[in-house]
Amino acid sequence: MEQRILGKTGRNVSIVGLGTWQLGADWGNVDPAQAQAILAASVEAGVNFFDTADVYGDGKSEQAIGKFLADNPGLDITVATKMGRRVDQKPEHYTLANFRQWVDRSRKNLGTDTLDLVQLHCPPTPVYSNAEVYDALDTLVSEGAIRNYGVSVERTDEALEAIRHKGTASVQIILNAFRLKPLDEVLPAAKAANVGIIARVPLASGLLSGKYTKETTFAENDHRNYNRNGDSFDVGETFSGVDYELGLKAVAEFEQIVPEGASTAQAAIAWIAAQDGVTTVIPGARNGEQAAANAAAASVSVSEDFDGGVRWIYDHYFREAIHPRW
Ligand SMILES: NC(=O)c1ccc[n+]([C@@H]2O[C@H](COP(=O)([O-])OP(=O)(O)OC[C@H]3O[C@@H](n4cnc5c(N)ncnc54)[C@H](OP(=O)(O)O)[C@@H]3O)[C@@H](O)[C@H]2O)c1
Repeated sequence: MEQRILGKTGRNVSIVGLGTWQLGADWGNVDPAQAQAILAASVEAGVNFFDTADVYGDGKSEQAIGKFLADNPGLDITVATKMGRRVDQKPEHYTLANFRQWVDRSRKNLGTDTLDLVQLHCPPTPVYSNAEVYDALDTLVSEGAIRNYGVSVERTDEALEAIRHKGTASVQIILNAFRLKPLDEVLPAAKAANVGIIARVPLASGLLSGKYTKETTFAENDHRNYNRNGDSFDVGETFSGVDYELGLKAVAEFEQIVPEGASTAQAAIAWIAAQDGVTTVIPGARNGEQAAANAAAASVSVSEDFDGGVRWIYDHYFREAIHPRW
């Protein structure tokens, strides 16, 4: 699979990576054996970049990756984790002392002395402009606990702020056919500053696979059930913040323009990977088949016509509600 350099990390990562929120919790149940099958299918298909977080299943996702790496020694995989959401979301919690504790826990879960990449996990907005936070992260690098750090953000203004800080190696942001705002300023700014872009929620939580209908139901312990209105975390993380039924209408249009030979999900992923400035796209998967199909999207090419169609659908259905918000 094609690889690109992930910003200031200097690491070569596959243009399709794997999101591993599903290996923890919040997506109904994914059992440990299935978690291992998802990781194995991804690697088999050329993926060498996993995104996880200390909070996914309160460590289960990190532990699943740790087990996979221990069972498969010698693999050259970059693992990006995240920290900060196991405590109340207050700026004063983003201290060196807390970072040390959080990082130590992730090192243990992942079975490694040095974390490849740690991302602040959508912290309160003031954290992104706090020089002391970056100093603390630099300290972790100099101590050898982490190799690089980056941020995961909800909004484009947060991304632009983080990009201004010289130690920021990567920015993770929602970018998909229903969320085009990062194309305006974030991608050009990241490229100019040599900051890698990790594009998350590429399938709008599965909507862009085209497999759901008005009648589809989601398990009680699936955020697509309990976070529809943003009751537990930012509503933009669930179906990318779009109204579910409007999303179904837009997907029906999207399906009309999918390139021949590609699935709807693959076209959605390939379109993101084709955007200038994107380093890697990290679809989540609930089984090995999805993981393999998503990795195969790396060889789907998208035309200018398709790109025009994606932009038309966004302008027609979502721009007014989505663009000012995130
Ligand atoms: N704040 C943050 O930093 C943050 C927030 C959200 C996500 N993330 C990261 O981004 C990753 C990706 O986002 P996401 O997992 O939220 O959403 P996503 O990748 O847009 O959607 C994942 C869902 O899409 C469906 N799917 C995936 N591949 C498919 C295929 N080939 N065919 C049909 N359906 C398919 C599955 O739904 P079913 O379960 O219905 O089969 C899967 O659970 C996460 O795993 C996580 O690593 C980070």
